[in-house]
Amino acid sequence: MANLITKTTELAMTVTLSYVRKGDVAVDATCGGGYDTAALARAVGPEGRVYAFDIQKKALIMTESRLRSHGISNVRLIRESFVSMSSHIAENSAAAVVFNLGYLPGGDHSITTTAETTAEGLEAALRTIRPGGIVTVVMYDGHEAGAEEKKMVLEWAEALDQSRYHAAYVSMINQEKNPPEILWITKKGRE
Ligand SMILES: C[S@@+](CC[C@H](N)C(=O)[O-])C[C@H]1O[C@@H](n2cnc3c(N)ncnc32)[C@H](O)[C@@H]1O
Repeated sequence: MANLITKTTELAMTVTLSYVRKGDVAVDATCGGGYDTAALARAVGPEGRVYAFDIQKKALIMTESRLRSHGISNVRLIRESFVSMSSHIAENSAAAVVFNLGYLPGGDHSITTTAETTAEGLEAALRTIRPGGIVTVVMYDGHEAGAEEKKMVLEWAEALDQSRYHAAYVSMINQEKNPPEILWITKKGRE
């Protein structure tokens, strides 16, 4: 296995996929280049479904192309903000909702997630996951909006009711250049 703690996005996805089974529903809240969407789609298999959101046409085109080149067809691509996920996916139904915050690498850096929309999206994600499901958030604080967003996300997570949710936070504490950090939240209770 790869040296997982050195690869934040792989670590985030490896833990996420341990909550996902064949036939499940999963959500990629920010599909970007489609890497996370493809990983979720493989995990749920042809009998499952992934809902992939992004506000940028470019991201949806990139994701669609990645999925096509891997022969993946169990994904619904939605050009909307993740704040509207509740109008597409039933409450308490998804095994996982994944947020990879920030801007599209190689794209327009001004099109980025913000503290305000992310706060709303995370509340929607908590409603969307089933008991036993997971919300995964990969955060970047190397840019101004990202630092503000990360602060908000962590304050929000710290205040979650521990009788309903379990939150865990990973930071690569000795690494320079602001590597991404991970937050996971699981919803307690039986499926
Ligand atoms: C870091 S990239 C995601 C990378 C992606 N997960 C992957 O595997 O390639 C962040 C994406 O979030 C998108 N985004 C920004 N605000 C959004 C919002 N409110 N709803 C959905 N997507 C959003 C951006 O357009 C960008 O493509």
